[in-house]
Amino acid sequence: MSDHPMTDPTFLGDPYPAYAALRASCPVQRVPTGSGGRGSYLVTGFEEAREALADPRLSKDTAAFFADKESRRRLHPAVARTMLATDPPEHARLRRLVTGSFTTRAVEELRPFIAGTVDALLDRWSGAGPVDLVAELAVPLPVIVICELLGVPERDRAEVRRWSGELFASGAPDTIDAASHSLAEYMTGLIAAKRSRPGNALLDRLISARDGADRLSEEELVSLGVLLLVAGHETTANFLGNAVLALLRHPAELQRLRRHPAEIAPSLDELLRYDSPVATATFRFTTEAVTLGGTPIPAGEPVLVAIGAANRDPARWPDPDALDLDRSAAGHLGFGHGIHRCVGAPLALAEADIALRSLLTRFPAIRLAVPAEQLTWRRTRLVRGLAELPVLVTS
Ligand code: HEM
Repeated sequence: MSDHPMTDPTFLGDPYPAYAALRASCPVQRVPTGSGGRGSYLVTGFEEAREALADPRLSKDTAAFFADKESRRRLHPAVARTMLATDPPEHARLRRLVTGSFTTRAVEELRPFIAGTVDALLDRWSGAGPVDLVAELAVPLPVIVICELLGVPERDRAEVRRWSGELFASGAPDTIDAASHSLAEYMTGLIAAKRSRPGNALLDRLISARDGADRLSEEELVSLGVLLLVAGHETTANFLGNAVLALLRHPAELQRLRRHPAEIAPSLDELLRYDSPVATATFRFTTEAVTLGGTPIPAGEPVLVAIGAANRDPARWPDPDALDLDRSAAGHLGFGHGIHRCVGAPLALAEADIALRSLLTRFPAIRLAVPAEQLTWRRTRLVRGLAELPVLVTS
């Protein structure tokens, strides 16, 4: 196990050589990591990943997968059983009720708020010393935005952010379980408060969302609220950090976007492809025996789709390790594919567009404060994001 490329300490900083080696040997293969050390099938090829994400024989129902297994995990049920961990037909019903409220127009309406938030955060960047872009922009921006969108009051946001961070970090299982309960209890209280004093935030709209006679149950509402809160900011924070780092390491591209900010939005797909925030694992398991990319997988086996690896597959992307803002990267899997494809993609893209525009315009001299090799990455293979990104902004 210790000599597997994915358990090598260099993997977190740069997983791509290991992904390339694994993909070259077999794009779907058994690896010793994942699912509590029991081993999993890892998908690193683009076509195979796309197929796996859309295959109805692969389930996302984590609760069902772990039901008959020894597990001392005590995640709150609303966190363990979110829409993202639900299969059809239940999934389609939940998703329909959300997408009605989660429209591109709602995101458009949020743009001025996002821009104001970015400006307020960047106003604090003064002085000659290094600024940690992760702590001072990438993390707070999506938290503030998703809280505003959902209707989480300002006074509660720091606490909500801490719980969400604990849920995602690869910390002690007890801490993760406790954070899931804190978040679910918080959401239950917030929904109760909104029922007695309705507002017009997303959560209020979800409370009254209807599809014919159908509406969300109390438990579904809590679960959806927590999912949007958590999914809405961890991934976006990692994307902002990864995208800025990619540009700092490619100064010509950075200057190009600085001079032509209208090109930022069309470049986001390539930035997402190049360093995907959902790196190694989006989990599924086989409900029956399947053959994927020529590899037979028995029923009941965990399958990890390595989105970051698929997005660098040379069979799909010529010169995959190059950042090429002119390439047409629209088919990348950074937001997933199939029925679970990211609901929040328009919001994430709007945040990244606005944040990069302001950052590059206001700080044209932005550069890394330490050599890229010394940067620290978050200690998890599930998502790929920087622990910190120290930059210098004054010339
Ligand atoms: C699903 C990535 C931002 C909410 C997904 C999936 C991916 C993803 C890969 C599918 C996972 C799978 O199939 O297993 C990202 C990335 C983001 C981002 C890279 C930022 C750059 C957001 C935002 C929100 C959000 C801002 C909410 C406001 C969701 C939800 C799902 C989801 C609710 C589940 C959809 C379903 O089960 O039908 N995301 N996401 N995401 N994302 Fe995002």
